[in-house]
This record gives sequence, C-alpha cells and structure tokens, in this order.
Amino acid sequence: MPETSGKGLSIVIVGASGDLARKKVIPALFALFCQGYLPEPFCIIGFARSAWTDDEFQRKIEPHLTCRYVPGEQCADKMRQFLGRCHYVSGQYASVDSYLELFQCMRRVECAPQSDRIFYMSVPPFLFLEVARAMGNAGLLTCGEQTPWSRVVIEKPFGRDRASSDELVANVEQVFSEDQTYRIDHYLGKEVIQNLLVLRFANLVFEPIWNSTFIQSVRISWKEDLGVGDRGGYFNEYGVIRDVIQNHLAQILALVAMEPPASFRSQEVSAAKTDVLKTVAPADPAAWTVGQYDGYLGEPGIPKDSITPTFAAGTLHIHNDRWKGVPFFIDAGKGLDERVTEIRIRFRHTQCCGAVEEVAGPLPPNELVIRVQPDELIRLGIVNKAPGLEMKLVQTWLNLAYKSAFETPIPEAYECLLLDIMQGDRSLFITREELAAAWDIFTPLLHDLEARKVAPAVYPFGTRGAGSPHAPMEEQ
Ligand code: BG6
Repeated sequence: MPETSGKGLSIVIVGASGDLARKKVIPALFALFCQGYLPEPFCIIGFARSAWTDDEFQRKIEPHLTCRYVPGEQCADKMRQFLGRCHYVSGQYASVDSYLELFQCMRRVECAPQSDRIFYMSVPPFLFLEVARAMGNAGLLTCGEQTPWSRVVIEKPFGRDRASSDELVANVEQVFSEDQTYRIDHYLGKEVIQNLLVLRFANLVFEPIWNSTFIQSVRISWKEDLGVGDRGGYFNEYGVIRDVIQNHLAQILALVAMEPPASFRSQEVSAAKTDVLKTVAPADPAAWTVGQYDGYLGEPGIPKDSITPTFAAGTLHIHNDRWKGVPFFIDAGKGLDERVTEIRIRFRHTQCCGAVEEVAGPLPPNELVIRVQPDELIRLGIVNKAPGLEMKLVQTWLNLAYKSAFETPIPEAYECLLLDIMQGDRSLFITREELAAAWDIFTPLLHDLEARKVAPAVYPFGTRGAGSPHAPMEEQ
C-alpha cells in the first residue's frame, strides 16, 4: 500500500479536460483503485477552464475506464464508486482565487483537509510556471515531503533546449522543491524499459559481453504509423527530436549504456544514468537526417511552410571505455509503416567455423532484440545447425514473448508511475541533472537545424521515413 500520512489523498489534476488526463491519468488511477492501491479516503479533483459540473466531468471520464483488473458486474460497481470520488472545479490557470476555490472543494469532498496531495500538471508546458506560482500563492503547496506531503507532477517537454530547460527548472524550483517535483517520462513506466536494468544486471550472461569487444552496434528505433492528429499545434512547436528523442530515446540509451549502479535505489540509478549521458558526444549534425511525412503541412494547426521534422535518424557515440567505437543508431518518426519501439543489440561476428562458413556463407551475428511495444518481447538470434544430414547453419531465435511467458496483464506506464509518486519512489522520474545532460546531447543539433533552416526531406506517409545516414540494421 502507498506510504501516506493515513489522512487520505487528494489528487488534483490541473488541465483535467485534456486528452492526457481523461485518456491516461484518470484511467490509470481507476486501474490502481481496482487493484486496491489507492489509500482511503481519496478524491480526484479535476481543474480546468471548461465550465463543467461534477456530472459532466464524470461522463467525460467514464468511456476511458477499462475493466482489465475487475471484470463484469463487479467492474460496473467499482466504476460507480470511483466516479463518485471524481469532482470538478472550473477556473483560470493563473488565478489565485481559482485555486482557493479548489481548496474549498478539497475540504468539502470526502478527502480530509489534512490529506496528502498530488498536483498533476496536465497542461501545456508554457502554462507550468503561471499555474505553479498561482498555486503557491494560494498556499496549496506549503507542505513539503513531510506528512501530509504535497507532490507535483510535470510532463515533458521540459524546455526547448539546455538554456530554456535550466530556466524552467530554476523557476519551478522557486515554488516546489526538487524533492517535491516528479518529472514524468512515461516511457520509464513501460514494463520492458523497467526490465532493462534487471535484464542487464541480474543475468550473468549479459554483463561480461556488454561492451565494445563483443557489441558491434546498438540501434534504438521508435516508429509510429499515425500522423500528428489533433496535436499538430503542440507538435509543430517541438518536432520529433524534442518530442521523443531527447527524452524517451535518451532515457532508453542511458539504461542500455550505463555502468552498473551501486544499488537499484533511485539516487544511484539516476547518478549512473547521468554519468553515461554526460559521456555521449553532442549529436553531430553531419550524422543526422531529418524528414517530414507527406501531408504533414495539411494537418490541422500546421503552417503551410513548416520545416518541423516528423522523422529524424542519426548516430550517437559514447566516449568511454565500454563503448569505444560502438555506434548507437537512433531513429524516430511519425507517419511510418508500423508502430514499434525496439532496441537491437548487434554482436560482433564470431571467428568460429571457418570451413563451415566457406560452405554456408558468412555466419549471421548474434542479435538481442528488446521490443518495448507492441507485443513486448525479448529475443536472441543465435546460429544453429539446421536439422538434417548436412551441416547447414541458420539463424534462429530464442523467444521470450511477454504474452505467453507471463499470465498477468501488463500495467499501463501511468499506473506504475502514479503508484510510485504515491509511494515517494523517485527511481522512474527524471532528475534535473539527467535532464541537463540529455539536452546537452541534442541542443547543438537543434540549434544547427534551426539556424540553417534545414528543410526536412519529404517521405511518403506509411513508409520507412526519410532514410538515414546509417545503413539499416539488416544491411550492416
Ligand atoms: C509522447 C509523445 O510522449 O509519446 C507523442 O509526445 C507520442 O508524440 C507518444 O505519440 C507515444 O506514447 P506511447 O506510449 O503511445 O508510445
């Protein structure tokens, strides 16, 4: 059960009328409720500008709640109980009076005035500061990490480059302490990503060969088969490097490449991630390609002359002994041929079996594929003798598909992250040091693309993107 003061929990969602709150955050809270993870009493208070009543708010939420954990009749019952705890206050994001009204609502509803508090900022980043300041001035955040505690959750993007990120961090710190702040990168809540540390450090077979002597290259690939949809206004301001690569993919890279942490405690894991991010050389513009899917300029909210990339691919290098000379190929794009996030560790060719190679051709190298989504899996490509009278070597796969290997449902990333916030476990959240180190990798590339006004190469929607400066994995 969560570590709370025992006096209940109020979860305030600022920007509750938006998609993130309705489709991800509140359904995740419902899933936690169904599994008995929310403390009693608890209440959820949505806050946004739309003039909704409690009833209307509940009606907007209901279609997104799912019965994964409690089937049938029981689920309908749970939904009724849960929705009855969801309240709504409409107000202005920068208005102290609105937050005082919110506080009155917290007192009125079933969670005690002395409850612990989570403030979830489900608002666009340009509103963070004004919301934070108004909340602070209304006295909502006076309690810190002591009981009853108050914690604040913010979502990326955190700034546009190193300087603006530093400024945002410094300004937000005037209202909430670093200890109170939980910076979400929801990929860290995904099951397979959480497993990376375990896979690497709890299995003796990997760590001794996890270095440049045995590994030829690492590829981290993120593909979506949809366009920007109704998020065009946001996306066009940021582009795929800021939206996905600087955060989700940089975090994956850190977990794949970091040194063993002294323990799995959050400070130590974060320190090891920060250390490796600091050794990644800034992305060299000459080693990166950007693209834009055909049709992007016709999407709602996109200026006709936009040069925002929807695709980017390039190579990163890590300057330490472990990774000397090993390229990390990164690619990410929207409007591609499939939706998949994958890490591929390609091992070096073996020197074995020269004579056989002459007969059967060169041996394919071993490859470890870690698929984050969809259909989570870990598989290892090995060379095997094909059954038969001849010595014929083929590449085959040792396959661990999560669906068949584990019977339990895989939790949504937000379930895990929200539970950690309640428990005060910061392992899966981004510290300011990690954030700064990740921006240092991409800020020079972003500035270069913007200074030179580089026009992205147009690629047809539903294809493999705008090509990449590195050879596709199959051809290496
Ligand atoms: C978000 C990005 O962080 O992640 C979106 O802003 C992207 O552009 C989304 O679509 C993908 O998340 P998931 O969990 O569906 O892979």
